Parts: sequence; structure tokens; C-alpha cells
Amino acid sequence: MLIEADKPLSQSLLWQIQNSYFHTAGIRAWQDDVVPHQISCNPFMARAYANLITAYIQDLGDSLNHDEPIYIIELGAGSGRLTFYLMHQLEEMWADLSPFRFVLTDYTADLLHFWQIHPQLQPYITSGQLDFALFDATQPAPLKLHNSQQEVTPQTADNPIILLGNYFFDSIPQDSFVIKQNELHSNLLSLYSTQAEPDLNDVTLWERLTLAYEPLPLDTPYDNPLYNEILFDYEQLPDTSITFPNIGLDCLQFWLEASNLLLLTADRGHTHAIDLLDQPDPLPNLHGSFSMMVNYHAMTEFIERSGGRAFYPPHYQDQIQTLAYIWPDKSNTQATFEHTFRQTICQNGPSDYFSLRTQLLSQIPEMQLPQFLSLMRWSAGDPDLLRVALDHLPYWLAQYPAWTQDTIEMLQQVHDQYLQLGENDRLPLLIEQRLGDM
Ligand SMILES: C[S@@+](CC[C@H](N)C(=O)[O-])C[C@H]1O[C@@H](n2cnc3c(N)ncnc32)[C@H](O)[C@@H]1O
Repeated sequence: MLIEADKPLSQSLLWQIQNSYFHTAGIRAWQDDVVPHQISCNPFMARAYANLITAYIQDLGDSLNHDEPIYIIELGAGSGRLTFYLMHQLEEMWADLSPFRFVLTDYTADLLHFWQIHPQLQPYITSGQLDFALFDATQPAPLKLHNSQQEVTPQTADNPIILLGNYFFDSIPQDSFVIKQNELHSNLLSLYSTQAEPDLNDVTLWERLTLAYEPLPLDTPYDNPLYNEILFDYEQLPDTSITFPNIGLDCLQFWLEASNLLLLTADRGHTHAIDLLDQPDPLPNLHGSFSMMVNYHAMTEFIERSGGRAFYPPHYQDQIQTLAYIWPDKSNTQATFEHTFRQTICQNGPSDYFSLRTQLLSQIPEMQLPQFLSLMRWSAGDPDLLRVALDHLPYWLAQYPAWTQDTIEMLQQVHDQYLQLGENDRLPLLIEQRLGDM
């Protein structure tokens, strides 16, 4: 049965299913471990971001207004864990967080409520360092901060705005196109099911849904001439299917009204033109919600042609793409950032970390305590590594009593920077018990 015929992907019913999922599940999407987030919200990623933010601010030097805050705004923040890690990592580097105002945003009101009453966030809310706002990428509008009641608009911010968008651009609407014999075609989507589908919240819906794309010749895909320019340049590619992050770019354009902007973003996607070759039609990757590969190559083209600068490693990032965009580009004054990006993302980045972590997780039981402590320092205190090691700690400490103080400090760090998501999450309690035993 035809459910919907010939829609541009970004206007497809698929995104209503996505919205229904996030709005209905709320924080349960993360409490029940349905939406994966370890790869995008871990302390290693947060430390890399803290280093990049510090470098960016150093480069800005005297141009900052020290009487006004620097906003660090997370888009589609979900659980809130990334910003919480980041606050701890920045606190370690800066000793005090007073130059910053952190804003967690999402389009799901339930998440704002969860953050607002979360015991671990109370000190930051009370000090005015942390605030919350609804923000929908499909309808970008000024942020109305929940607690301070202030409005944040890109145009009126005195200092640069720092945006975080992890595992975000792959979850918001995008379009699909096909290159056939060096000609761009729109790739329209039809949805079929074995029955009528009145309930978009029905979790069994995905089992019945079939997606069928059809390429059709097109004239002018968008009102925005720059989008079209970037798209038609893809006609040079051999036959392939590409996505285009039109809604992500609309959202970015809204924030580019700021006088200075830094966007730090990580997602599954395509960064280099060569990654776009031989791609199939985009299909949703299901995990409660769904995600689709992000065309970071198009985003980079957009930023660079708008007068900004993109930072990304020259190699393929196998696990997760991590990029930075600075707008406007002031190349002669970005030396610290450039150097830090090379060190923290190109040479020892989140993607490298995650692929080695996957391997090392299974080897933790065979490690010695000093090796495990090295691993924990390298990871910046990854809770999932500790989870595997907790039962070994008493045995390890009996073997290496001299490492007791280092172990206590490691446990304390993991405990303090780990945002608890609910009663089923026993890690903080287990750490407290270990600390008590010691
Ligand atoms: C896959 S989750 C990622 C959450 C978090 N950033 C992380 O890395 O775990 C995608 C997030 O984007 C939010 N989201 C989805 N569509 C959105 C939209 N149109 N505007 C703003 N947020 C949206 C969802 O509510 C969800 O929190």
C-alpha cells in the first residue's frame, strides 16, 4: 500500500516518525540505552572540544568582551552528557568557568524538564553558568533561556558563539540527489507499507515500511543560489547518490548571523569528495530514532564559500567524523586553533580513540593496574572502560597497593563528570562502594 508518493527526502513522512519518537520517548531514549551515544558523548571527545575551545579563545585575544559571557550552545543535546563532560574538562583547564555560559538545547520539552530538575546540574543552574532552551533546527529562532529569561540571538551576542552539534546533523531532515551521467537528479522518496499507518508511534511500523527512491531530472532545487552552486558542482562526479544537508545549512545560516562563530561537530558521514563516490540511496540507520550519513563535504563547501574555514583531518575517520568550522575565516589569527586541531583531532582524534577503545575493552581483564590507569588517563575518564574493570579493582589493588591514591583520584573523576540518567544506571553507586571500601 502506498503511504506517501514522490517526496523530497527532507519533506518525507520519515521525519514525522522521527519527531514522534523523540517527543514520545523523551529522556527514556537514553535511559533505556536505545539511542546510542557513547561515541558522540564521551570524555575523550569533550577533552578534545575543551582544548579546541581554549585555543579558539586564545586566538581571539583582546577582541573578546570580558564583561559578557561566551555562549557554548549544544544543539540536539539529548542526554546532556557531552556538555556536562565539557564543563568538567574546561573547569580543569580554566580553574573557573565564569567566562562561559553553557546552554543545552533540544526540540523535546521533556529533556528540558529532565535537565532542569537533575541534582547534578543544580550547582551550575544556581550559579547561572548553565541554562536551557528549546531549539528546533527546522525552525531556527532566538533562544529564550529557561532560567535567566534572557534571549540569545546570534546578531546581538557580544562575544563569539560556540556551537556543538554531535550526532545532530544526521538526525535532522536532509535531501537526496542522484548523479547520472554527469547530470544532477532529485531523488524522490515513496513509502509503502503492508497496511495503512495512522500511528507514527507504532514501533513495529519500521518492519512494514519499504522505501523506494526515484531519480527525476530537475532545474533549480533551492531558492538559495549557493546551495544550487554546490549541488551542481557534484555533476563532475561519476554516477552516485548524495545527500544534501539543506535543513542543517538553513540552521547554520541562522547562526552565521553572529559576528564570530565556532562550530564543533561530530557525526557519521562523508567529509572528503572521494567518500561520496559509489554511494547507495540513503536508508535510515535504525536505533529507536534513525540517522543518515551527513554530507560534511557539502557543509564544508558552504562554509568556505561563505567566507569561513573548515578544519578536518586529511585521512578518513573510520568511526566518527569530527570537524570544526570557524566563521569568518581570519587565517592569520588562527594559529593556536590550527595547531590544536592537528594535535587533538588529526593526530589523536575521537575516531582513533573509539576504534582502539573497542579493541581494548575486551582486553581490560588481562591488564595490570598501571596499564589500566594509563588507559583511563588517555580516555579522560571513560565510564564504560571503568565499568568493565570495577570487579578487578580489589585484586589489582592487593597487587599494587602503591597505586591506591591514583586509583581513588581516577574513580572520583569518573564519578564527578558522569551525568547520571536514572535509577537503572548503577555505575555511580558501584564507584561509591569501591571508594568506600578503599
Ligand atoms: C541522535 S540524538 C543525539 C543526542 C546527543 N547530541 C548525543 O550525541 O547523544 C539526536 C538529538 O537531536 C534532537 N533533534 C532531532 N531533531 C531535531 C530538530 N529538528 N531540532 C532540534 N533537535 C532535534 C533529538 O531530540 C536528539 O536529542
